[in-house]
Amino acid sequence: MRLQDQAVILTGGASGLGLAILERFVEEGAKVAVLDRSDAGCDAIASRFGDAVTTFVGDVRSQSDNEAIVARCIERFGKVDCAIGNAGIWDFNLPLVDLPADKLGESFDEMFGINVLGYIALAKAAMKPLVAASGSMIFTVSNAGFLPAGGGVLYTATKHAVVGMIRQLAYELAPHVRVNGVAPGPISTQLTGPQSLAMENRTIPGARFEAGASGFVPIGRMPTPEEYAGAYVFFASRQDNVPATGTILNHDGGFGVRGLGPVPRGGDDLRDKLEL
Ligand SMILES: NC(=O)c1ccc[n+]([C@@H]2O[C@H](COP(=O)([O-])OP(=O)(O)OC[C@H]3O[C@@H](n4cnc5c(N)ncnc54)[C@H](O)[C@@H]3O)[C@@H](O)[C@H]2O)c1
Repeated sequence: MRLQDQAVILTGGASGLGLAILERFVEEGAKVAVLDRSDAGCDAIASRFGDAVTTFVGDVRSQSDNEAIVARCIERFGKVDCAIGNAGIWDFNLPLVDLPADKLGESFDEMFGINVLGYIALAKAAMKPLVAASGSMIFTVSNAGFLPAGGGVLYTATKHAVVGMIRQLAYELAPHVRVNGVAPGPISTQLTGPQSLAMENRTIPGARFEAGASGFVPIGRMPTPEEYAGAYVFFASRQDNVPATGTILNHDGGFGVRGLGPVPRGGDDLRDKLEL
């Protein structure tokens, strides 16, 4: 077990990628304190994971809710070894031309509030116990932290901002706390959008994404949330990850090697050519 007795804070742990991280961290021996705004989701994980998990229903934009989950983690598990900022929302690729001018300020505040302020507020709240424990922070980025068209202008801007935030915090907190990021590619989850754009009940068209994935992801299919979780174990591990800080893992199915050709992979016919 790579994370035996680590006490971990995780935002957005009630669904999707966060839930997969939670399952894997508990399997690896960690105790996890989850901050999520979903009441039902928090109830479900509390009854499923028992003593290994504690939850706080709140909003990542609230400094006091972040402080509450840090206090809860210390009260239940005695320390904080790792804080994972993961809760986020998407803009369903809304291009600027279709973004209503009268909604721009409000939707900017909501997207940046959850995707960026939420992470900085967690870092602020968890900094002291993490320095005391020589711990680490891990933040969920996205392919949209590096490339266009993984979101609209708002989402892409928030995830690029997260890249800068990770680098700045890695600088500010060295040598005490390692700060790293994982940039997943597409995942079939319940990712929703901003209320200010009436997207709060919309979810990713998972089945359509999965069916089309071989057409745009070099690895040929969409990884499951569980298949992304190991990267978080790697960054949290005290044995395996001493050297990394300020690192962001492009964990996206290979978007960086799509090349300029008409297909996302150069090796589709390799098995035939090698007579396998
Ligand atoms: N799904 C994808 O294709 C994809 C791809 C790359 C990156 N990501 C990133 O992965 C992360 C997790 O998203 P997901 O796809 O698992 O979505 P999800 O909606 O399944 O999970 C997000 C969780 O965050 C919680 N949450 C949302 N806003 C919150 C708030 N203001 N306060 C507290 N909790 C809040 C939700 O209740 C939910 O439990 C996000 O940062 C997202 O940007 C997702």
